[in-house]
Amino acid sequence: MSKEILRTVNLFKAFHLGETIYAVNDVNITLKAGTLNVIVGPSGSGKSTLLSLLGGLDRPISGDIILDGQSYAALSEDELAMLRRRKLGYVFQFFNLIPHLTALENVMLPMQFIGMSHRAAKERATMLMEKVGLEKRLRHLPLQLSGGEQQRVAIARALANQPALVLADEPTGNLDTQNRDEIVALFKQLNEEDGQTFVMITHDPSMRHHAHQVFEMIDGKVTAVDNG
Ligand SMILES: Nc1ncnc2c1ncn2[C@@H]1O[C@H](COP(=O)(O)OP(=O)(O)O)[C@@H](O)[C@H]1O
Ligand SMILES: [Mg+2]
Repeated sequence: MSKEILRTVNLFKAFHLGETIYAVNDVNITLKAGTLNVIVGPSGSGKSTLLSLLGGLDRPISGDIILDGQSYAALSEDELAMLRRRKLGYVFQFFNLIPHLTALENVMLPMQFIGMSHRAAKERATMLMEKVGLEKRLRHLPLQLSGGEQQRVAIARALANQPALVLADEPTGNLDTQNRDEIVALFKQLNEEDGQTFVMITHDPSMRHHAHQVFEMIDGKVTAVDNG
């Protein structure tokens, strides 16, 4: 089997609104390098909260996450921010592109954040835009692109710094059927051809079909792991 890229250890996250809600309740999961992983479950079951913890966007109340041998708990806020930039990529339901930057500039940004030269960032961003099928859209602004195209730009941006892991929260949730199928095919291609590791929340049955692991969440717990 391929090596482990991420592991959670007794992960807990709670919210206190009158009563205490354990949005993530003792989660222990392992992701292997080069796999496509899917999290499913009803609304409110803790999927987005878990993904935020895995992505280092939020801190657990207890437990830890180990990414490529690195414990998040051992990192300061600045160090965790550095890890997010260098080791993780993010794709969101509503794309979250920067509206006044072109598609190419959006993809360049994460590379410039870690100090890559303009020229090198532009070269790699151009390559990534070709990879996601948008070589003819480099100078378009996000609002000049369709939803499916915007999500392709977001995926190219997520891949900018060759992340160990790309996290996606309902990446096809705001797309029509055709764009949805194309984005599912793109994730599958990036996983199969480049060995990119993904973990994504999705309700899409075809994405689930392609996954190496399916985690089912209910009431903050991962209740079933299907290695289909
Ligand atoms: N910032 C927050 N403050 C209070 N409660 C929250 C917050 N974020 C999530 N929750 C609660 O945690 C639970 C899990 O939410 P979430 O992770 O968004 O679920 P899902 O993504 O599966 O729909 C829900 O009961 C939700 O209301
Ligand atoms: Mg959610």
